[in-house]
Amino acid sequence: MRLRGKKNIRESLEKQPDLVVLEPQKLRGRWHEFFGNENPIHIECGMGKGQFISRLSGNNPNINYIGMDMYDELLKRGSEKARKLWKDEKGMDEVPNLALVRGNVEFLDKMFEPGELERVYLNFSDPWPKSKHGKRRLTHPRFLMMYKEALNDIGEIHFKTDSLSLFEFSLNSFSAAEIQMRNISLDLHRQSLRDDLVLTEYESKFVAKGMPIYRLEAVVGPKVQEEHRRLVAEDLAAQLRRGTTKNYEAGDDEDEDSESDE
Ligand SMILES: C[S@@+](CC[C@H](N)C(=O)[O-])C[C@H]1O[C@@H](n2cnc3c(N)ncnc32)[C@H](O)[C@@H]1O
Repeated sequence: MRLRGKKNIRESLEKQPDLVVLEPQKLRGRWHEFFGNENPIHIECGMGKGQFISRLSGNNPNINYIGMDMYDELLKRGSEKARKLWKDEKGMDEVPNLALVRGNVEFLDKMFEPGELERVYLNFSDPWPKSKHGKRRLTHPRFLMMYKEALNDIGEIHFKTDSLSLFEFSLNSFSAAEIQMRNISLDLHRQSLRDDLVLTEYESKFVAKGMPIYRLEAVVGPKVQEEHRRLVAEDLAAQLRRGTTKNYEAGDDEDEDSESDE
C-alpha cells in the first residue's frame, strides 16, 4: 500500500517537468535554459512543503526560484501549493519562475556551476542538536564553502531559525568562514509580525506559540561585501561627525543597506 502511494507520487512528479526537476545535476550550468531567461536565481535549501518559495515566486516574477528538498512527498505538496497560488492570484496554470528540485544539499556543487546562484535561503534547517552530528547542520563551514562557491558576485545567504543553539553555532560558523553578517536579529517579530518578510510553515507555527525567531543575512559575494563595507564606513563616519550612535536593530528602515524582496 505504502509502495503504491510512493509510486503514485513519483508518477505525479514525472508528469510535471515544467515545475519539478528530479535530476538537477543534468541542469548544472544550464538553469537559465530551464527558466528561459537570464534572471537571477535564488534557492531555498530544505523547502519543506514549499509555502515560502511559492509565495516568493508569486511576489517577484523577475527572480527565478528553486525550492530544494530530499523527499518526493514534499515536492508534491510544494507543486500543489505553487500551482494553486499562481492560479488563484494570477489566473495562470504555469508557474514560470519556480523549479522544485529533488536533491540533497550535500551535492549542491554537482547541481550548480560556480556563480550560478544569487541567494541561498536556509529556513528552519534541522538543528542536529548532538555535537557528533554537527557536520550535518546546513550552516556548518563545509556547507558555507559550497554556498560561497555557487554564489555570484552579489551573493547572499539569508538564514532563519527557532533554534538558539543552531543560531549560536551558525554565528561561529559564518565567522570561521570569514563571512560578514548584517541585520542580525534575536527576535525577528519582537515588535510585531514583520510583514515585509515572507513566513515559512515552521515559522508560522513558532510565531503562533510566541517563540522568538533568530535571523541573519550573510554577505558573501565580493561586490556585495565591498558595498557593505563602504556603507558601514560611511555610516560610522556620519555618526562620528554628528556625535550620535546608530541603533543597529535588524529591520530598522533607517539602517537598511539592502533591499528586501522577501
Ligand atoms: C524543519 S524543515 C523546514 C522546512 C521549511 N524550510 C520551513 O521553514 O517550513 C527542514 C527541511 O529541510 C529538509 N532537509 C534537511 N536536510 C536536507 C538536505 N541535506 N538536503 C535537502 N533538504 C534537506 C528536510 O527534508 C525538511 O523538509
